Amino acid sequence: MTSIDDAAAAVRRRYDRGAARYDVVTWPMERLAMGRFRARLMAQVQGPRVLEVGVGTGRNLSLYEESVQVDAIDFSPRMLERARRRPQPVNIRLALMDVENLDWPAGTFDTVVATCVFCSVPNPVRGLAEVRRVLRAGGHAVFLEHVRPGTPWLAALFDRLDPIVARSGPHINRRTIENIRAAGLVVEREDNLLSDVLKLVVARP
Ligand SMILES: C[S@@+](CC[C@H](N)C(=O)[O-])C[C@H]1O[C@@H](n2cnc3c(N)ncnc32)[C@H](O)[C@@H]1O
Repeated sequence: MTSIDDAAAAVRRRYDRGAARYDVVTWPMERLAMGRFRARLMAQVQGPRVLEVGVGTGRNLSLYEESVQVDAIDFSPRMLERARRRPQPVNIRLALMDVENLDWPAGTFDTVVATCVFCSVPNPVRGLAEVRRVLRAGGHAVFLEHVRPGTPWLAALFDRLDPIVARSGPHINRRTIENIRAAGLVVEREDNLLSDVLKLVVARP
């Protein structure tokens, strides 16, 4: 993997440190809502070539159809190690890689998948620009992401809390829709799943 700067190294260390407890800590939210939303997101995936970025502990891996070839990357060795412990279907390849510097040539993938990733990527627009680059013309990216709320007082509260939350977890005030657009992707669909804070987004290059 290409070398990363100090800020990125700090994010990676945070996920390395939290990898062992990640599935336990996020389990209630998975049971309450995320499991259902992941299934909804997966319905948007089209092969044959799929890239999942920020795969983490591999929560989505069992949801892919056998007919698609999935490359799944993360820049945290410990999160990836957890993903490797899951049953590994033959159509899934895992790799240690930074979404801000993807190894593939332009136009490689039919679908790129990201779930709760761009709240953590150190330079989100750079990562999203890489997503755009590796998508083929006519392909699409599907995102399940929590974002800064639209309600002003709530957004202000999220802004105040963000420095505390982000010390051990993701940012809670990322403007991910704006970042997707800033990276040159065209937002084709934006579904509010939990108020306007958790969104399913489909975007095209
Ligand atoms: C909140 S976790 C989500 C994991 C998984 N997608 C899920 O739905 O459970 C965010 C993941 O993004 C990864 N990540 C953050 N920045 C990254 C980057 N620049 N390149 C690759 N992975 C990154 C972290 O290591 C972590 O595993």
